[in-house]
Amino acid sequence: MQFISVKEAMKQGSGSVSVRGWVYRVRGSNKMIFIVLRDSSDIIQCVINREKVSAEKWATAEKLLIESSIEINGNIKEDKRAPTGYEIDVDEFNVVHFAEVFPITKDQSTEFLLDVRHLWIRSRKMTAIMKIRSTVFEAIDNFYRQRGFYEVAPPILTPNACEGKLTLFEVKYFDDIAYLTQSWQLYAEALIFSLEKIYCNSPCFRAENSKTSRHLAEFYMSEMEVAWAHLDDILKYAEELIAFIVQQVLEKNKEELKLLERDTEKLRKVKSPLPRITYTEALALLKKQGINIEWGKDLRTIEEDKLMENFDTPVMVTRYPKKIMAFYKPADPHDPNVALNFDMLAPDGYGEIIGGSERDTDIKEMEKALKEQGDDPKNYDWYLDSRRFGSVPHAGFGMGVERIVSWICGLDNIKDAIPFPRTMLRKAP
Ligand code: 4AD
Ligand code: MG
Repeated sequence: MQFISVKEAMKQGSGSVSVRGWVYRVRGSNKMIFIVLRDSSDIIQCVINREKVSAEKWATAEKLLIESSIEINGNIKEDKRAPTGYEIDVDEFNVVHFAEVFPITKDQSTEFLLDVRHLWIRSRKMTAIMKIRSTVFEAIDNFYRQRGFYEVAPPILTPNACEGKLTLFEVKYFDDIAYLTQSWQLYAEALIFSLEKIYCNSPCFRAENSKTSRHLAEFYMSEMEVAWAHLDDILKYAEELIAFIVQQVLEKNKEELKLLERDTEKLRKVKSPLPRITYTEALALLKKQGINIEWGKDLRTIEEDKLMENFDTPVMVTRYPKKIMAFYKPADPHDPNVALNFDMLAPDGYGEIIGGSERDTDIKEMEKALKEQGDDPKNYDWYLDSRRFGSVPHAGFGMGVERIVSWICGLDNIKDAIPFPRTMLRKAP
């Protein structure tokens, strides 16, 4: 048999086809057995007619349980009653493997589905999300490559914290210890001296003490760094990147978005330029909504969500208070109380999707900030070399890929944005 995908078979629409996949649903009478066959492309109804097969084959078909793998040849035709509008009248079939009783049935708890995640990833929902995730990565690559960026590989095992010591994962490293990377940034800042415009998609790890619907212990960050760039330059890259990703998903994943019942109306509004406000303006907006935040305090999740009630698209909030920012974020020369940084917040409660900044080039300032956060500047000596040999202004940002997927797909929890989520309470399967 020359196999084609279910989608290709439906495109063919008539005549003989051979498809293969897994039994998604099965029901029968003593005359006919209806199999809904699933492959990576779609599902299709297949009918085995008792009169058309041998008694032995019929007995085989009667034993089929869901998730059995099967090869089918038959005649395809349009059928409005079938789940995807087509039906295959089976001539021949071959059971590749008889599945045991599949443990996943209807209406199971979220926790159970996470326990059997290795099986649940076969669901149409997870398949749709993973296809959208794949489009997101494709869009990221295309976006940066079209703009002359090089892709680089940062190390995962590192000697330093990038985003504070509190959330480091420590691992045994021969007779020493190392940390799993929280962000490629320190390495990116060294790499711009050879490649100038760079990006990477890398796993990042944070031992965050939070059980929210937005935090993973292992997540993918898509990061970029650009030599000679200032805050305004990267704000432009950020809004164009987000608009491009959304547009690509809208174009390539219509069926998946439909299956996920995602209302795409708001997504269509995501176009560059995106709204920009300062942290100080954000506080003023919040005040109008009845929330008073003391200038200098970071925005918490509830405040970000409240702020985003004012917007339909992502928003870039710039210039947060310098004193609450990571050691590498420089003060704005026009107002030393604020940093040259930004966060991009997504609408509808999806929170921070991007964090970025210009990078400080003042070694003394950075050493001071490192000491204030309880770090020893000596450990960062290699990094500070980037400020000793031809230092240039530069800037970059990191985008949380699962946060993007979660928002674009309209997911209830970020855990569904990655096939095998790692959280404070889960490291298996
Ligand atoms: O804002 P963050 O901490 O920024 C950095 O790490 C910078 N060094 C990036 C850079 O400038 N190159 O993290 C960046 C993004 C966040 O905006 C968020 O989308 C995502 O990474 N993120 C997480 N996503 C899922 N789970 C977590 N625990 C996350 N922590 C951060
Ligand atoms: Mg951040």
